[in-house]
Amino acid sequence: MKTNFNLQQYNSFGFDTVAKYFVEINDFCELQTLIKSGELQKYKTLILSGGNNILFQNEAFDGLVVFINTKGIETLHEDENDVVVRAQAGEDWPEFVRFCVGKGWHGVENLAHIPGKVGAAPVQNIGAYGMELKDSFLQCMAMDLTSGATKVFSKEECRFGYRESVFKSKLKGIFVITSVDFQLKKNAPLHLEYGNIKTYLEQNGIDNPTLQQLHDAICAIRNAKLPDVKQIGSAGSFFKNPVIERTQFEALQKDYPDIPHYDEPNGMVKVPAGWLIEHCGPSILRPFGPSTSSGTDSWKGWRNEHVGVYEKQALVLVHYGGGKGQDIVELAHKIQDSVEAKFGIRINPEVNFV
Ligand code: EPU
Repeated sequence: MKTNFNLQQYNSFGFDTVAKYFVEINDFCELQTLIKSGELQKYKTLILSGGNNILFQNEAFDGLVVFINTKGIETLHEDENDVVVRAQAGEDWPEFVRFCVGKGWHGVENLAHIPGKVGAAPVQNIGAYGMELKDSFLQCMAMDLTSGATKVFSKEECRFGYRESVFKSKLKGIFVITSVDFQLKKNAPLHLEYGNIKTYLEQNGIDNPTLQQLHDAICAIRNAKLPDVKQIGSAGSFFKNPVIERTQFEALQKDYPDIPHYDEPNGMVKVPAGWLIEHCGPSILRPFGPSTSSGTDSWKGWRNEHVGVYEKQALVLVHYGGGKGQDIVELAHKIQDSVEAKFGIRINPEVNFV
């Protein structure tokens, strides 16, 4: 166990938070031993995976950070149509997707290039380009942090929703995912409908994309829109896209006829938070600043010395270096307040605050 451990390299925002205690787990037997000896229960504990969806609000974490770094991918079943593959929680998600695509296995290709680890993927049911983790999820194994016992969770038990699962709600801090089993297909139609996938393929002269070409296209689209966390600190989308009542949406649409939206199965309407954030700005809350941005009153591209709103995707808050978690907290509150003041919608973070 290490003490006073700097977590800057362990959170994609790149904040300089120091953990009082830190332990790296390379095999879940090590975690089980810590639990069974009663050692783990002595501390306030934080399970840390890729650190890609976390905001350290303070400069110190007064407890034990358990960093999951277990590796391994194995094929549990394979026939002419189907494959079941198991990945350990500490496997890098984008590498896992590349591995599956390289084998010609369908099911996770639209989730290419999402930073993070396999074990964190079910926690918030990661999603992109018309696919969600739950679509290829078979089951996962998780360890009870009070007893060290392991349990298998079926898809139903995980209670997946939009960026939600039981591990983010009822079982938060109670179980840690140790491995995930995926049900993949050797042949399946590609999902090209979402966003600008088709446009990108057309522009690059690809008529009939292969699985690999789709994967590479998604990587390129993401690279063009989202910051590279090795260069600019961020946690991807900071807020969830709000889902509102149809009557509220129709009232908004009268004032903003161009507002993009997606119909939800239950008659509700999902509105892109990125659009709401782009179409309002700090002036509604004046005085708030100083900002180095100029031009129209939009949060998109707004920045001060340390933090800001990414210029190519307003849903992404960024840390340019030298800032503190509180700078992002303050900016997030201002954005929430201004969106609510203008559109009457409260947007909520998808990032976990610690
Ligand atoms: N938009 C704007 N301005 C912006 C950003 C978006 O007007 O600055 C509007 C546009 O109309 C655009 C629409 O919002 O067409 C949707 O934007 P985009 O396709 O970029 O997707 P998103 O809804 O902003 C979601 C996920 C992303 C995922 C993309 C692509 C959430 C919270 N985010 O973003 O996931 O990559 O779809 O599928 O659902 C993440 O979770 O970290 C993440 C990056």
